[in-house]
Amino acid sequence: MTITLTVNGEKKEIDVDPTIPLSKLLREELELKGTKRGCETGKCGACTVIVDGKATKSCQRLAGQSEGTDVLTIEGLADRAEEGDELHPVQQGFVDEFGMQCGYCTPGIAMMSVALLEENPNPTREEIQHGIKGNLCRCTGYAKIYDAVLGAAEQIEDTSLEPNELSGDD
Ligand code: FES
Ligand code: FES
Repeated sequence: MTITLTVNGEKKEIDVDPTIPLSKLLREELELKGTKRGCETGKCGACTVIVDGKATKSCQRLAGQSEGTDVLTIEGLADRAEEGDELHPVQQGFVDEFGMQCGYCTPGIAMMSVALLEENPNPTREEIQHGIKGNLCRCTGYAKIYDAVLGAAEQIEDTSLEPNELSGDD
């Protein structure tokens, strides 16, 4: 089946088994390995991407259900930075606050955080904790992750980015 969708701003037409998960389509058909495959049962959040503006566990969406959608992955986040090759504020937050150790959970948590900050650009630590509770991390103990997202929110406030600029929506 040919599936047409937009990934990181580029239109893609892919001949693929519609019953594979979107996570597999992204990683194996489009070579976008930033999206991780973990539990594949919707419990860990490692596969989180943004589909049509909403954080989505891509292991839980079939390729065939992705027809006509607009998908943003961690690779598209950096590309959409305001200035050249600058990182997105969420990515920069993880770097500045040492918000990762092995990094396996990080792309999913970053994408969930982007969606969270679009809805709530100035979250409290508790709101961040609640917002990313569906994303598991086995390394950090979460404190530095919350610091990273708080740092991103501060950066966004400082640069006066509108929330809808975070994911490149026009
Ligand atoms: S791999 Fe999708 S939620 Fe774990
Ligand atoms: S940094 Fe290793 S699982 Fe989160």
